[in-house]
Amino acid sequence: MASLNEIRSTFLDYFAKHGHEIVASSPLVPRNDPTLMFTNAGMVQFKNVFTGLEHRDYVRAVTSQKCVRAGGKHNDLDNVGYTARHHTFFEMLGNFSFGDYFKELAIPLAWDLITKEFGLAKDRLLVTVYHDDDEAAGIWKKYAGLPDERIIRIATSDNFWSMGPTGPCGPCSEIFYDHGPQIAGGPPGSPDEDGDRFIEIWNLVFMQFEQFEDGRRESLPRPSIDTGMGLERVGAVLQGKHDNYDTDLMRALIEASAHATGIDPDRPDARVHHRVIADHLRSTSFLIADGVLPSNEGRGYVLRRIMRRAMRHAHLLGADRPVMHRLVPELVRQMGQAFPELGRAQALIAETLELEEHRFRRTLDRGLGLLEDELAALPAGAPLPGETAFKLYDTFGFPLDLTQDALREKGRTVDTAGFDKAMAEQKAKARAAWAGSGEAAEEGLWFDLREEIGATEFLGYDTESAEGVVRAIVSGGARPERLTSAQGEGTPVLVVMNQTPFYAESGGQVGDAGLIATRTGRVRVTDVKKRAGDLFVHLGVIEAGEIVQGEAAELTVASARRAAIRANHSATHLLHEALRGALGDHVAQRGSLVAPDRLRFDFAHTKAMAPDEIRRVEREVNAYIRQNAEVVTRIMTPDEAVGQGARALFGEKYGDEVRVVSMGARPEGEAGPAGRTYSLELCGGTHVARTGEIGMFVVTAEAASAAGIRRVEALTGEAALEHMSAQGQRLGEAASALRARPEEIGERVRALIDERRAMEAEIAALKRRIALGGGGAAGPEAREVGGVRFLGQVLSGINPKDLRGLIDEHKSRLGSGVVVLVADTDGKAAVAAGVTEDLTSRVSAVDLVRAAVEAVGGKGGGGRPDLAQGGGPEGAKAQAAVEAAERVLAG
Ligand code: ALA
Repeated sequence: MASLNEIRSTFLDYFAKHGHEIVASSPLVPRNDPTLMFTNAGMVQFKNVFTGLEHRDYVRAVTSQKCVRAGGKHNDLDNVGYTARHHTFFEMLGNFSFGDYFKELAIPLAWDLITKEFGLAKDRLLVTVYHDDDEAAGIWKKYAGLPDERIIRIATSDNFWSMGPTGPCGPCSEIFYDHGPQIAGGPPGSPDEDGDRFIEIWNLVFMQFEQFEDGRRESLPRPSIDTGMGLERVGAVLQGKHDNYDTDLMRALIEASAHATGIDPDRPDARVHHRVIADHLRSTSFLIADGVLPSNEGRGYVLRRIMRRAMRHAHLLGADRPVMHRLVPELVRQMGQAFPELGRAQALIAETLELEEHRFRRTLDRGLGLLEDELAALPAGAPLPGETAFKLYDTFGFPLDLTQDALREKGRTVDTAGFDKAMAEQKAKARAAWAGSGEAAEEGLWFDLREEIGATEFLGYDTESAEGVVRAIVSGGARPERLTSAQGEGTPVLVVMNQTPFYAESGGQVGDAGLIATRTGRVRVTDVKKRAGDLFVHLGVIEAGEIVQGEAAELTVASARRAAIRANHSATHLLHEALRGALGDHVAQRGSLVAPDRLRFDFAHTKAMAPDEIRRVEREVNAYIRQNAEVVTRIMTPDEAVGQGARALFGEKYGDEVRVVSMGARPEGEAGPAGRTYSLELCGGTHVARTGEIGMFVVTAEAASAAGIRRVEALTGEAALEHMSAQGQRLGEAASALRARPEEIGERVRALIDERRAMEAEIAALKRRIALGGGGAAGPEAREVGGVRFLGQVLSGINPKDLRGLIDEHKSRLGSGVVVLVADTDGKAAVAAGVTEDLTSRVSAVDLVRAAVEAVGGKGGGGRPDLAQGGGPEGAKAQAAVEAAERVLAG
């Protein structure tokens, strides 16, 4: 008996042998289709190849595509567990031709595979074709030799496949397997076709048209092929089972569930529970591996609903502790080889499941108790009031479908209209409470938008480009439906999308820049900010054309800029840890900036860092960069994160769940707060995959930023290299000016400074000598004024402090007389006057200084009769000051 893994390989190998490229399954979150919640068919990743928008270097492909059908249009959630063939997760095997072969080869290829490779009996097979597709019917008849009664013509949309309201589409032909008359049911197209006897195993779509929103249907550039065969279904047929859950892979998961709960897998009252658990384990694990995490919005909420549904069924099996995470190893054993992403995300999957199950269990019993009480109080058979269902949702975290699922077992229903009404009322209340808080009018607009269109889904942890739908255009505080670029310079605009790969500024990391391109126009995005909590607002200008609400857009983040931001963000975490190591545990983050061209980190520390501390930090950060350690992101509760030693921002509000980013391993034998993990921080930012991508790290500045807070500025990667080489160049220039080798510069500069000091001292001494008439120059002559000897002199550029000494020297040289010196230095005047002891009864130095000071625009001046000093702002009038003093002396 071939296992599901073998059947998948047989399929892929068969088509590879026939010239098909084996292409990996695309992620469950579609990158190229904003209207689709989850990838739900193999052709999703090829949508644009069919329409000719995208080219690949192959024209034939084969895949085993991961698909989820839960939430949105194809919602199988409610039926899963109760039926033989419903799944939330399944694999679609498919072969594709992009304008290469068409029906003439697609049908023979399919027929040979199922009859020769798979060995299915011809008389068990029958097919359908679109009612007017004579060509396909003819090929089936001729190549497969099927009689007319087993080529059934169907006129309904069942045989015209389209992926949605728009996109590639075409008539299709389905292959059915007849399980035999012992099972009830009729062939396709018959009144009892819904029975279980005839099971569709493969759908061959003859892609021929593209459907547009306005109803137009145009021919594709070239007819193409898209096929889809459910691995679980064909597996059941090939393994001789009637029920997909009896295939080897599903059975292994069911047995793992039985093992973990201790409940027999085939106990009649336990069957449904095990099946739900097995199915939901697959969808939740694959979704988490593809970047979806439980939340209360969008994809994250669908994930949460699936998880909680499984967890309630585990609870119904009597499990008294979390179950789901214990099944992950078996899932990885079964499917990890075909889908390596599962193994890579194994820890994250297990942690996320366990966390959610713990949280859900805390309220499960009380919620179910409430449900029982309410039901007991209702008349038999009456639906559960919507308000009660809403209370279960709001207070106990029971998604509506979980409540419905619980009631289904009792044959009861919920008043869903009442539930919707209660939900709307709560939103209105929140709105009213908020409106009363007095925020600005523009904030009101964002809040309304948030309520209307919900949170923006951020895709940017996994991708830098994605499609999204323009949900709102905001310009000048209004919400136009369309906005055109102005002539010349573009039109400023704010754009809100349903989902985006653009990071919105938060946690110190700046918003992304890039491009939003629609069919009709282009917006150059310069920044992205969060409004009303989790609405991502793209700020930019319309560069060309027109932006229209409701249109699909291609969003592309400026990649090199994002890479530089990533490097700087991861380096900030390493820096934080290195600072703690170098300065002590009191170092706590007080703010940061992570930009493409630099990073900045503020932290509590009272002293300036010494140069050797800075060097130590640089060395350590660079050592962890060279370690090239994997950067790992996990989700946990804040308590758990802190318990593991994560650095959290003090005073910051965290939600129920936090992202925890870790990087680097300490040397053997060393341990930090997070054990051997070097850096463990709560962080919502984007990071490098491995620390080596940071390249290098250099500190460019360290300074005080506020009392008790220091700020380190640093560069990474190419910016760090540029900085270092510019420094080197400047050093080289200095060395050549000094005619020294770079390593001698310090010594040479110190010598120059010493030399300069000596020269300055020498110059001052020389000036004094000149002032005193020494040094060979003619000194000032004393004259008779008012009957005494008077010496008056202007001295340029002399240090005013030297005046006093000069006065004394002149006085002793004269023996008896009056000296007035005015220094004209740096544009200002300093005045000093001296009178020898024998003359102080006739004339006071204070009077002389006062007159002189007035002449240079100053006020006052003072001292003793034998020595007085003062000054004024007008150095140019120094000579007039000498003369003013002389006049006082002359009387
Ligand atoms: N795209 C086709 C389907 O989903 C094959 O059935």
